[in-house]
Amino acid sequence: MLKIRKFKETDLEFSELARIDNLVNHDSIDHPDDDKRDWYLRDKNLVRDRFLLYDNESIVGAIYYNQGRKENCRTTFFTMNIDPKFNLEESRLLLYNAMKREVDKFHCNKIYTSVYEHSNYDLVRNFLISKGFKHVQTNREYSCKIKNIDLKKYQPLIKKLKLFGVDFYDSKEEMQDWPNHYKKLEELTWTYHQDFPIPNGVKHTRTPFQQAIKIQKDFEKNYYGTEIVAVKDGKYIGSTDLEVYYKSEPHKAWTNGLGVLKDYRRKGIATALKIKAIEKLIEKGITEIRTDNEENNPMYKINLSLGFEAVPFSLDYMKEI
Ligand SMILES: CC(C)(COP(=O)(O)OP(=O)(O)OC[C@H]1O[C@@H](n2cnc3c(N)ncnc32)[C@H](O)[C@@H]1OP(=O)(O)O)[C@@H](O)C(=O)NCCC(=O)NCCS
Repeated sequence: MLKIRKFKETDLEFSELARIDNLVNHDSIDHPDDDKRDWYLRDKNLVRDRFLLYDNESIVGAIYYNQGRKENCRTTFFTMNIDPKFNLEESRLLLYNAMKREVDKFHCNKIYTSVYEHSNYDLVRNFLISKGFKHVQTNREYSCKIKNIDLKKYQPLIKKLKLFGVDFYDSKEEMQDWPNHYKKLEELTWTYHQDFPIPNGVKHTRTPFQQAIKIQKDFEKNYYGTEIVAVKDGKYIGSTDLEVYYKSEPHKAWTNGLGVLKDYRRKGIATALKIKAIEKLIEKGITEIRTDNEENNPMYKINLSLGFEAVPFSLDYMKEI
């Protein structure tokens, strides 16, 4: 018999949840230790929890949900993953209704989720549509085997930028003792993050500095691929960071973000940031990069010209309640 239970943060639950996620994932592998770290680093000022679906004593599915920050405090973001053998209307309803009862407590008025355009997600996607969710954003997803990139071709661009006064540094390896490094880096990333296209009805919000630093330190200690910063006359003008899940997929880096300040765009800085990051990752034995961007973001032109290949899109769905 199917039933819902609360999440109790046990080791068995973390490993069972990773097992279920991996039955659904189409091109990534989850490791329970990564989920555990992420869980312990969460911002406890915001509602974040999960409900587990059981068939007798076995976990067969889960819904992960969290409240948005500041202007998004009445918005819920969630992911529902169910063992394909138990992916029934009854399972989806049990999980969704359990979450819905909890988020009503903070007067949630919008619910968001993302699925991939891949058959593993079809049942959940059809469920969303039947529940009145609307498709609000399409994101291109890409993968690139980085050894195939002709890095030499981009050296004249990097030289040209150097003559213009733009240099590139690895944040963890070369900038740790620069004055106010993390303040400046956080200010830079917050500035360009506000230009990332996101669905109507969701706002960009700034993570409090203390929380951002906690996440940055964890990234540097456990997941560091590389983080490259473009600097001109001491000013941080662009950056990119990529993380590696060393326990599950040590040869693959996931792009977290990339951006350039408005006054410095269309000079090739984003392209150069990618090349500098790829050089570092190749030195570390990384062979593949994954990245994504909203379908109209000009970033896709840069990715295509570097040789990134399209993999299944991700699709954002939203419901107002
Ligand atoms: C997207 C972004 C990173 C591009 O940075 P950039 O330094 O201007 O990019 P580059 O100069 O390397 O651009 C290389 C090529 O990409 C294409 N491109 C870049 N920006 C473009 C734009 N706004 N419109 C059309 N094409 C564009 C062009 O083909 C350009 O070559 P060209 O200038 O010779 O025509 C920058 O606009 C930005 O920071 N945006 C906000 C943050 C963001 O959306 N990041 C991407 C999230 S995944």
